[in-house]
Amino acid sequence: KRVAILISGRGSNMTALIEAAADPEFPAEIALVLSNRADAGGLVRAAEAGIATAVIDHKAYGSRAEFDAAMDARLRAENIDLVCLAGFMRLLTDGFVEGWRDRMINIHPSLLPLFPGLHTHERALEAGMRLHGCTVHFVRAQMDSGPIIGQAAVPIALDDTPDTLSKRVLTAEHQLYPLALALVASGLATVEDERLKLHEDLP
Ligand code: GRF
Repeated sequence: KRVAILISGRGSNMTALIEAAADPEFPAEIALVLSNRADAGGLVRAAEAGIATAVIDHKAYGSRAEFDAAMDARLRAENIDLVCLAGFMRLLTDGFVEGWRDRMINIHPSLLPLFPGLHTHERALEAGMRLHGCTVHFVRAQMDSGPIIGQAAVPIALDDTPDTLSKRVLTAEHQLYPLALALVASGLATVEDERLKLHEDLP
């Protein structure tokens, strides 16, 4: 499977996916890293790893639909099978999301359905949670929703700050995302009736 990773920033999850996919046994190849920002730190790291990169600057387009159409065209031109969102900070149009239905996954830094949206670590602390974590899910039109592929939980310490907590969650993200991508890319994880279906053998 040919995978594109969409980023907007430092790309630490992107790096975790690239490193996992360097193993010849991994069921997917990272074929493209696409950023909406030319200054995304992850682009440098992807290039260093020998991965093709592209920038599609959302500010160059008059509407979300035109921006998404440009990304869609690029992904299809590169024969991409699966899209991984990894710190990609643009809302996607329903049309784009539908076009990649069950072929686009995202990592979110909370135990969904708790805390969709931004500032998840602050909000988990504010709520007095003793556990927090991250989720990889298939992407649906509604932000941070969709069938959940996997989650990883971390404890919250009483003296945690958003910064210390986010670091602990990020370490879990880097472990979870490659596992979730491998499940989807191998065909062992699919969607049935809007829930995850795990196959014991390849379907
Ligand atoms: C991660 O916490 C991810 O879960 C969230 O944005 C952050 C991106 O970090 N969606 P990085 O760019 O992968 O380092």
